Amino acid sequence: MRFRRLFEPGTIGRLTLKNRLIMPAMGVSLADAHGGVTNREIDYYAARANGGVAMVTPHYASVSVDSSLPYTMVISDDGQVKNWKALADAVHAGGARFSIQLMHIGMIFLYSGHVPKGVTIKVPSMTQWLKRTYQYHVVTEAEIERYIGDFAQAARRAKEAGADAVELHACHGCLVSTFMSPLTNKRTDQYGGSVENRVRFARRIVESMKEVVGKDFPIIVRMNASDDIEGGVSIDEAMEQAAILERAGADAISVSSGMEFWTPLGIPAYPFPEGAMIPLAEKIKQAVKVPVIGAGKITPELAEKVLEEGKVDFVAMGRPLLADPELPNKLREGRREDVRNCLYCNNCLRHDTQAPSCTVNPFLFRESRYPMAPAARPKRVMVVGGGLAGMETAIYLAERGHRVTIYEKTGQLGGQWITACASPGKDSYRHLTEYLDKAIKRLKIPVKLNHNVTREEILKAAPDTVILATGAVPVGLKVPGADKKHVVQGHDVLAGKVEVKGTSAVVGGRFIGMEVAVKLAEEGKPVCIITRNGLGEDGVKLEKFTFQSIANRLIELRVPLYLHATVVEIADKSVIILMNGEIYPVPADTVIFSVGMRSVADLAAELEGTGIEFHLVGDCVKPRDACEVHTQAAKIAALV
Ligand SMILES: Cc1cc2nc3c(=O)[nH]c(=O)nc-3n(C[C@H](O)[C@H](O)[C@H](O)COP(=O)(O)OP(=O)(O)OC[C@H]3O[C@@H](n4cnc5c(N)ncnc54)[C@H](O)[C@@H]3O)c2cc1C
Ligand SMILES: Cc1cc2nc3c(=O)[nH]c(=O)nc-3n(C[C@H](O)[C@H](O)[C@H](O)COP(=O)(O)O)c2cc1C
Repeated sequence: MRFRRLFEPGTIGRLTLKNRLIMPAMGVSLADAHGGVTNREIDYYAARANGGVAMVTPHYASVSVDSSLPYTMVISDDGQVKNWKALADAVHAGGARFSIQLMHIGMIFLYSGHVPKGVTIKVPSMTQWLKRTYQYHVVTEAEIERYIGDFAQAARRAKEAGADAVELHACHGCLVSTFMSPLTNKRTDQYGGSVENRVRFARRIVESMKEVVGKDFPIIVRMNASDDIEGGVSIDEAMEQAAILERAGADAISVSSGMEFWTPLGIPAYPFPEGAMIPLAEKIKQAVKVPVIGAGKITPELAEKVLEEGKVDFVAMGRPLLADPELPNKLREGRREDVRNCLYCNNCLRHDTQAPSCTVNPFLFRESRYPMAPAARPKRVMVVGGGLAGMETAIYLAERGHRVTIYEKTGQLGGQWITACASPGKDSYRHLTEYLDKAIKRLKIPVKLNHNVTREEILKAAPDTVILATGAVPVGLKVPGADKKHVVQGHDVLAGKVEVKGTSAVVGGRFIGMEVAVKLAEEGKPVCIITRNGLGEDGVKLEKFTFQSIANRLIELRVPLYLHATVVEIADKSVIILMNGEIYPVPADTVIFSVGMRSVADLAAELEGTGIEFHLVGDCVKPRDACEVHTQAAKIAALV
C-alpha cells in the first residue's frame, strides 16, 4: 500500500485514532449571528469526517466572552454545549474523532482585523510597538486565575459535548502564546522572565483542565516551535517549553509556528517549501515522549515520508482538506490522482466575518449542493473559451447530463492559468489544469482546439445554451512611447514568449508585476518596479501572508521600488516618471507592462437580441481570480 504509514492507527493518550491524518483547527465564520451552530457548519465538518480523516478539530472555541469573533461558536457558557454536541455527533457519525481547540484570542485579534466594540485586547504586557488604534489591557494575576478557570470549564463543556480530546491553543499570538513569548511578555511577576515563568500560564491551564476532565481525557497543546520573529520564541526555547507542558500532562504536542499578526510561516503560502515546519516538529519530538503532530504544506507523499522517518507521529492537513474533503479516502483507495490538490494560494484566508472560499473547491461550505441535481432536460451547450472558467463550467454541466462541447481559440486548454503556473514558486498550480483535463477526458467532453468561435458559427449551430468564458487580456498604458519595440507584457515574460534584455523596469506593482520582478531578479537580471500606488495596492486584493511572502522576496532580492510614481513617457533607454512632484528618468532597456486586464466579451454584445440563451463566466465578466471564477462557474452550471 502506497500510504501505509499514513493509514496505520495511532494513539494520543488513551485515545486511538484510525490513521495518522488530523484535520487541524481552522477559523471559519460559519456559525449564526448569535454563535449558534448552522447546518452549513455541520455539513462542512461531516464531509471531512466522512472523507476519512482520523480526527476533526473544528474552528477554535473561545473560552471567554472577551475573546470571541462574530459568526463563531464559543464555549464560554453551558448553553453552548448543545451546539458543540451537534458538531460532535455529525463528526462521530462520519467515523472520525472530535477534538475542540480552546482559545483565548489575545493578539490574534490584530490579525483578524476585527475587534468587537467595547472589547480590549488582552496582553501579558504593553510593548512599544503595539498599535495605538486598539485598546489594550494588561492581564492581572487575578484575571490569569479567572482565565485558567475558564479553560478548565471549557474543557469540561467539551467533554460533555462528546469531544474525544481538547486542544489548548498556545500558538500564533493568542493570549497563552503571548505569555510564552519573550517578545510580547515583559512581565516581572511569576508569569514573566524565565522560560518556566512564561510557560506557567499554559502549564497551569493544562493542569487545571486535567483536574476537571480527568487524567485519561486527552489534552493536546498546539504551540509555536518558533515565533519566527526576532526576539520571539526560538526552537531551543520551544523544546524546553514542550517538555514542561508534557510534564504538566499534555498528551500530544501539535507543532505550529509564527506570530500571525506579523509572520506568514504558520500558514505557509505557495512560495514556502513543502513541510516548512517539519524540521521544527522534528526538534520538538526530540524534547518529548508524547506524540508530535506536524503541520504546514504537507503533501500526502511528504506525510508518508516524515511518518516513516519518525520525524512526527501524526500529520495535520488543513488547507488540503478544504480543497478536498475526500482526500484520505482517495489515498486509502489508491486514487491519489483523483485528489484535488491544495494550491496553497491562501485564498481561503481572504475573509473577515464571512466564510472563506477555496480556489479549487467551489463547494467548500456549500457541501450540500454537490453533487448537483441532474438536469431536468439535457441541453446542447457550446462552451466558448477553454480557460479555467470554460473547463470548470463544462465539467459541472456534463456531470448534470448536458451535452457539452468546449471551443478554444488556442492550441491548448488552460487560458491564463498556463501563464500563472509560470510564475516563481507556482509549479504546483499546474495540478489544477491537469485535474480539470482529466475530468474532461473522463466525462468524454469534446474539445475543439484552435477554434475561434464567431457569432455566425453560434447562430448556425443554434445550441440551446452558450457559455461565454472568453476571459481577459492584458492592457497597456496610454503614454508616449508605449508602442516601442522594447515594451512588452508581463504575461509574455512569465510565459517565456519574449526575451528580456539588459536592465528592465516593470510598470505595475500588483500581484503579477511583483511576480515578474521576482522571476527576473531570481534569474540575476537587473529589474525595478514602478507603480502608481503602493506595492500590492489596486487590483485584486492579495491575501496578507501571500503579499508578505512576495514582498519579502522582493526585498531580499533588492529590487528597487518606485512607489506612487506615474509613468509619463517611455524613451528608448529609460522610463520617465513623475514622483513626489519631480520628473525622473529610470534606466530601462526593456519595459514590462503589468498594469491590469481587460475583459473579452465582444460575443456577448453580438449575441444580444438573437434569442440565443447565453451566460458569461469568469474573467470575461470582470478580471478577477481563479477562486471567484470557480465559484461563479459552479453557480452558472447549476442554473442551466
Ligand atoms: C500571471 C498570472 C498569475 C495569476 N495568479 C493567480 C493566482 O495566484 N490565484 C488566482 O486565483 N488567480 C490568478 N490569476 C488569475 C487567473 O488565472 C484568472 O482569473 C483565470 O485563469 C481566468 O480564467 P478564465 O477562464 O475566465 O479566462 P482565461 O484564462 O482568459 O481564458 C479564456 C479563454 O478563452 C479563449 N477564447 C477567447 N475568445 C475565444 C473565442 N472567440 N473562441 C474560442 N476561445 C476563445 C482564450 O484563448 C482563453 O484560453 C493569475 C493570472 C495570471 C495571468
Ligand atoms: C482559514 C484558516 C484558518 C485557520 N485558523 C486556525 C485556528 O483557528 N487555530 C489554529 O491553531 N490554526 C489555524 N490555522 C492553521 C491551520 O490549522 C494549519 O496549521 C495551517 O493551515 C498549516 O497547515 P496546512 O498547510 O495543511 O494548511 C488556520 C488556517 C487556515 C487556512
